[in-house]
Amino acid sequence: MIEPLLAGLETTAAAQWLRGARWGYAAVNGTHVLGVAMLVGAILPLDLRLLGCWRGVDRQALVRVLVPVAAAGLALAATAGLCLFAIRAREYAGLDIFRVKLALIATGASAAILLHARAGWLLRDARPATLRLHAVLSLTCWLGALACGRLIAFVT
Ligand code: HEM
Repeated sequence: MIEPLLAGLETTAAAQWLRGARWGYAAVNGTHVLGVAMLVGAILPLDLRLLGCWRGVDRQALVRVLVPVAAAGLALAATAGLCLFAIRAREYAGLDIFRVKLALIATGASAAILLHARAGWLLRDARPATLRLHAVLSLTCWLGALACGRLIAFVT
């Protein structure tokens, strides 16, 4: 059922152009990496703060700056990632490592949305134990997605 959808994605004008455009592919790949860098670069210090590092740094001030950077990074990575995916949609969709990567992204994003919905935008109402648990899950998901993303090149 999903096969015709994936095949259709591969025949879009954007996918066909990217397949033949060397520098176009490089630009989209670079945009994907920029999004990943913003996401992981913001999440890492934030989660380490939630785990108890840099207690002297105001947690809410850190959340106010780093959460929007991480969210923008995820939006950028997802948009560029979808373009890269369209180039060889059926092949990527069949890879276990790609499926694991998508599951990690979905889990990491859902956990973050749930935490902010429950504890408030600046996480004012969260218990320290909840924040620590979230930080471990979040680091596992985002660092796992980073590793899976990089590993795709080694299995195709
Ligand atoms: C839903 C959104 C995403 C999609 C559809 C997607 C898709 C892709 C695709 C198709 C590739 C090219 C793989 C190859 O042929 O080498 C790629 C590369 C990569 N992705 Fe993603 N990705 C997404 C989000 C992410 C996120 C959130 C991360 C990190 C946390 C990430 C990390 C990477 C890395 C490190 C690479 C390798 C870049 C390189 O070395 O050139 N991706 N992604």
